[in-house]
Amino acid sequence: MAAFKFLLLLLTLLAVQLSEATRPSLFSSNYNLPIFNSTQWAVLVAGSSGYFNYRHQADVCHAYQILKRGGLKDENIIVFMYDDIAHNSMNPRPGVIINSPNGSDVYAGVPKDYTGEQVTAANFYAVLLGNTSGLTGGSGKVLATKPQDKIFVYYTDHGGPGILGMPNMPYIYANDFIDVLKTKHAMNAYSEMVIYVEACESGSIFEGLIPEDLNIYVTTASNANESSWGTYCPGMIPPPPKEYQTCLGDLYSVAWMEDSDVQDLKTETLEQQYLTVKVRTFNHNSSEGSHVMQYGTQRISSETVSVYQGSSNWNFTSDPSQSFESMDVIDQREADLYSMWQMYTKWTGETQQKDELLKKIKETTAHREHLESSVNTINGKLLGDQQHGSVRGEGSAIVDDWDCLKSMVRTFETHCGSLTQYGMKYTRSFANACNDGVSVDAMDEAAKATCSSYDLGQWDPAIVGYSA
Ligand SMILES: *[C@@H]1O[C@H](CO)[C@@H](O)[C@H](O)[C@H]1NC(C)=O
Ligand SMILES: *[C@@H]1O[C@H](CO)[C@@H](O)[C@H](O)[C@H]1NC(C)=O
Ligand SMILES: *[C@@H]1O[C@H](CO)[C@@H](O)[C@H](O)[C@H]1NC(C)=O
Ligand SMILES: *[C@@H]1O[C@H](CO)[C@@H](O)[C@H](O)[C@H]1NC(C)=O
Ligand SMILES: *[C@@H]1O[C@H](CO)[C@@H](O)[C@H](O)[C@H]1NC(C)=O
Ligand SMILES: *[C@@H]1O[C@H](CO)[C@@H](O)[C@H](O)[C@H]1NC(C)=O
Repeated sequence: MAAFKFLLLLLTLLAVQLSEATRPSLFSSNYNLPIFNSTQWAVLVAGSSGYFNYRHQADVCHAYQILKRGGLKDENIIVFMYDDIAHNSMNPRPGVIINSPNGSDVYAGVPKDYTGEQVTAANFYAVLLGNTSGLTGGSGKVLATKPQDKIFVYYTDHGGPGILGMPNMPYIYANDFIDVLKTKHAMNAYSEMVIYVEACESGSIFEGLIPEDLNIYVTTASNANESSWGTYCPGMIPPPPKEYQTCLGDLYSVAWMEDSDVQDLKTETLEQQYLTVKVRTFNHNSSEGSHVMQYGTQRISSETVSVYQGSSNWNFTSDPSQSFESMDVIDQREADLYSMWQMYTKWTGETQQKDELLKKIKETTAHREHLESSVNTINGKLLGDQQHGSVRGEGSAIVDDWDCLKSMVRTFETHCGSLTQYGMKYTRSFANACNDGVSVDAMDEAAKATCSSYDLGQWDPAIVGYSA
């Protein structure tokens, strides 16, 4: 009788399995059954560089520690990080990176697979596709995955409508990223994948773009049209240790990682983690929070977190600091200038360096003002509307013609200078120009006329690279 019941259960599971999955997989972990010879893989990406972006690399290092503690092997964890933080002259604790005020070092042991100039969109795509011949430099580690394997991808940095930053140009464009995911799926090279993304407008990377049948489940820090937020910043609550003049983490990122740090990941489901992170990232509905979103294959969210992040024999005690107190935060795009000012006002060292810092603050501010006013002027010329353009409805991608968007970005940068991490927010204007049928020639003319007197200097795309 027992055997019969078991057989019945198995048949039912199989039937559900076959109807739900695009390709049959006998022991998928939908029901948390053991998976035959399946390997857990992860790709972690910090998309920025520079001490005032400390938090993104801190996030990625912390994520590594969670996976490592959870039992994933170094050979299966691939890390992209510029690696200019731990030994930065401004780092108050040389060789150490922390991701929360009382946190311990998260830098120790992190594999340096792709660092410095190797942190590129092209290497990221090659790693995802397991394409070693597509790599330039780096450790050579790629997702050499089998059909039954599980993949966890975590990305954190600045973003903008349809784009994610990289410390080396060009940026990641949503259509290219989604194409890579579709290719990976067509290669039958994984069973299921989970992707967590922190960036401004990160919902726009997937909204209207990711099919539901790729066996990929995604959560993002924000919807398609809002900022994501840095936290643990100097002068805010909770503050970093007083010697830190930079933010230590990002709101959505610390929300999922501090949850993974204390929960029993063998019982917590991805859906439960999403709900917890959503509440914390909403930040008590202050204007300083964002809407965590889900995309892709929703059914995967019933699996336990351990299927992707591993799990450890840990004494799960709830930490009082993990309550959902509202956190002071700062818009990702303001965080660097904010931190520079904090450092400037508290400066006790050499005057010459203080003057250099002030010069950098002034130059950065001036270029942002130039970007803002030129995008407004160009919008006025091309769209008859100075604003950044309206948001397309839910479920639509920001643009249909991605080549047009990229051409618009390059054309703008040629005449007006690099968008920089701050100017990524203007891609929606360029997308709307494409959607409205504005030609690249018209953009060229408008940008040339608007920016002819601007000295590109250090923001010349011929020097820093084009972001598209
Ligand atoms: C598991 O996969 C590895 C690598 O593909 C293979 O060498 C090994 O034989 C497999 N083990 C079993 C029990 O099939
Ligand atoms: C691997 O990358 C190279 C170089 O970008 C490319 O030519 C090739 O088509 C890629 N192969 C696969 C299987 O994607
Ligand atoms: C922003 O996006 C969300 C969901 O993606 C949508 O519900 C909301 O209406 C959008 N806001 C605007 C101003 O369009
Ligand atoms: C958040 O605040 C806005 C405006 O203050 C309000 O309209 C909205 O209903 C609130 N949402 C939630 C979920 O509390
Ligand atoms: C977990 O807690 C139990 C009871 O408090 C204790 O006996 C055990 O040693 C702890 N295990 C670890 C790994 O700390
Ligand atoms: C850090 O530790 C101090 C001292 O124990 C405590 O007062 C503070 O609340 C902690 N900060 C956070 C963010 O947990």
